[in-house]
Amino acid sequence: MKGVILAGGTGSRLFPITKVTNKHLLPIYNKPMIYYPIECMVKAGIDDVLLVTGGNNAGDFIRLLGNGREFGLKNLSYTYQDGAGGIAQALGLAEHFVDGDSILLILGDNILEYAIKDSVRRFRHQGQGAKILLSPVENPKAYGVAEMDGDRVVKIVEKPQDPKSNLAVIGVYFYDGRVFDIVRKLKPSARNELEITDVNNAYIEMGEMTADKVTGFWADGGENIDFYLKACNTVAQLGANKEC
Ligand code: G1P
Repeated sequence: MKGVILAGGTGSRLFPITKVTNKHLLPIYNKPMIYYPIECMVKAGIDDVLLVTGGNNAGDFIRLLGNGREFGLKNLSYTYQDGAGGIAQALGLAEHFVDGDSILLILGDNILEYAIKDSVRRFRHQGQGAKILLSPVENPKAYGVAEMDGDRVVKIVEKPQDPKSNLAVIGVYFYDGRVFDIVRKLKPSARNELEITDVNNAYIEMGEMTADKVTGFWADGGENIDFYLKACNTVAQLGANKEC
C-alpha cells in the first residue's frame, strides 16, 4: 500500500496567518502540522509516501522533511499541484507514483487521535474497493456527511444544508488502484473543484465502500481559526504519545 498526503491549497480559511506560508507548515502545538499525517503513515506501517503540495512554499517542505528517513519512511516523493483544483485532482497526480497499488490518502490538515492501523488491516483484508472513516461532529454542514442505513453508507453529501446524520467523512481514505479511472471521469463541482465526495459516491454506487467509525479527537485543522486553536490545545493536553 502506498501513502499519499495532500498539502496544497491556499489556506484561505486561516487568513491572514496563511498569507505568506502554507497552512501545513504552521505549528500544531509543538510540531508543524504536516508532521502529524507523516507520523500517522509510519505508525500505520506505510513507508513509501508521496506528498502533493503547491503554491509558493513547496520548497519549504523539502527543507523540512527531506527524504523522510528521519521519520521512519523508506521513501518520500514530492509532486506539485498547479492551482487549487480540489482533493480529487490532487489525488489524480499520484497515479504514476501509486502504479496500480492500493492507497492510503490523508489530508495534511487532519489531526486524529484514532490509530488507523486497524482500519489499514481491515482494508487489506477487504482486498478491493474503498474505505472511509467517520467521526461524529457538532457542525456537519462544514463537511462531507454520510447518510447511513444501519452500518452501511448509502450516500455522501458535501457540505449539506440539511445533514442527514452527524457523521463527517474525515480526511483519511483508502482506495484500490481503480480510483484513477474514477477521478478521470469527474466533473468540477459548484466550487470548481474535483470533489473527493464524488469519488466516494462512485464506490458506494459500485457497492464497494466500507466505513469505520473513529474514536477520540478528530479535527480538520484548516477548517477555521477556532478549530486550528482547538487542535493545538487538544494535542497539548493529549501529550506527545497520541496514536496518530
Ligand atoms: C474536505 C472534503 C470533505 C471532508 C473534509 C475533511 O473538505 O471535501 O468531504 O469532510 O475535507 O477534512 P474541505 O476541507 O475541502 O472543505
